[in-house]
Amino acid sequence: MADVTITPRKNGPYRVEGVIKLVDYEGNEFKVTDSVIFLCRCGHSANKPFCDGSHKRVGFDADTRAPQAEETPAS
Ligand code: FES
Repeated sequence: MADVTITPRKNGPYRVEGVIKLVDYEGNEFKVTDSVIFLCRCGHSANKPFCDGSHKRVGFDADTRAPQAEETPAS
């Protein structure tokens, strides 16, 4: 079972839940005290890597869904 669940919210950020360690590209750690954080995936946040709600202002459109298992055609 996964320790962290990442959910791309419809037209919004990644919701990350679990025991989280978030580091920058140099390995420096962001202070994360909550078990749920929201990470920007629209690229417009002024507080990256965290979402600041800017995705609404820019009309970010990403209805990301996991592929569903294809039904086997009847023979
Ligand atoms: S996803 Fe919210 S500001 Fe980018």
